Amino acid sequence: MLELEAISRSFRVGPAETQVLRGISLTLAAGEMASIMGGSGSGKTTLMNIIGLLDRPSEGAYRIRGEDVLAARPDALSGLRNRLIGFVFQSYLLLPRLNAWRNVALPLMYRGVAEGEARRRACEMLERVGLSHRTEHFPPQLSGGQRQRVAIARALVGEPAVLLADEPTGALDPTTSQEIMDLFLEMNAALGVLVLIITHDPGVAAQCRRRLVLEGGALAHDSARVPAPC
Ligand SMILES: Nc1ncnc2c1ncn2[C@@H]1O[C@H](COP(=O)(O)OP(=O)(O)OP(=O)(O)O)[C@@H](O)[C@H]1O
Ligand SMILES: [Mg+2]
Repeated sequence: MLELEAISRSFRVGPAETQVLRGISLTLAAGEMASIMGGSGSGKTTLMNIIGLLDRPSEGAYRIRGEDVLAARPDALSGLRNRLIGFVFQSYLLLPRLNAWRNVALPLMYRGVAEGEARRRACEMLERVGLSHRTEHFPPQLSGGQRQRVAIARALVGEPAVLLADEPTGALDPTTSQEIMDLFLEMNAALGVLVLIITHDPGVAAQCRRRLVLEGGALAHDSARVPAPC
């Protein structure tokens, strides 16, 4: 599904050039559930931005379903991102002036889906995440866990093949954090969506079948890679 080959990313700030990602090669199959751990500044968000087509690597190759996405034109790329990838962030990033179902319906409206149909699908997805009784509430009227459920519903409403989450439980208490993890596990199983979760919480990482660790911009551990016998 996603194939990264020798991906590197450098940033130039003033005269200095910093290498943030170093030769990352990684293949993620459809329907996988993987976590990325690593110290602050190890490059997790930078890697996720590249995987999510929000940023480009300085070097390396990236193919999605065999297609070289680095060669794609910017408009083709944003179309691909819109259809293929859903994002969830620690800070939810909901629009405070839109109620829950309108927040969830937003990606569909961008695609030109008519309002009635968008509302029906948004409410259906809110029901799946356990919020059928909160569709008219505005984000400030919801708890942190409920806001994250709305954000997950928004990420999934367009039926993406890939769900990228950057510290999705980072702002939640342990009980709510586990409820959100259960939701990711359920959506991964029910919809077959590839879920990639950045986390600092070993308990969250341990629930993912595949665990990746970044260190200093390099892939230091991949639980799917069995060490060669010596
Ligand atoms: N646009 C940018 N310009 C310059 N440097 C950047 C840019 N984006 C990230 N970096 C640098 O890349 C390094 C990795 O950043 P990144 O956000 O990927 O880390 P992270 O692993 O997600 O950390 P955290 O756990 O704190 O979120 C940092 O040293 C950061 O300063
Ligand atoms: Mg980060």
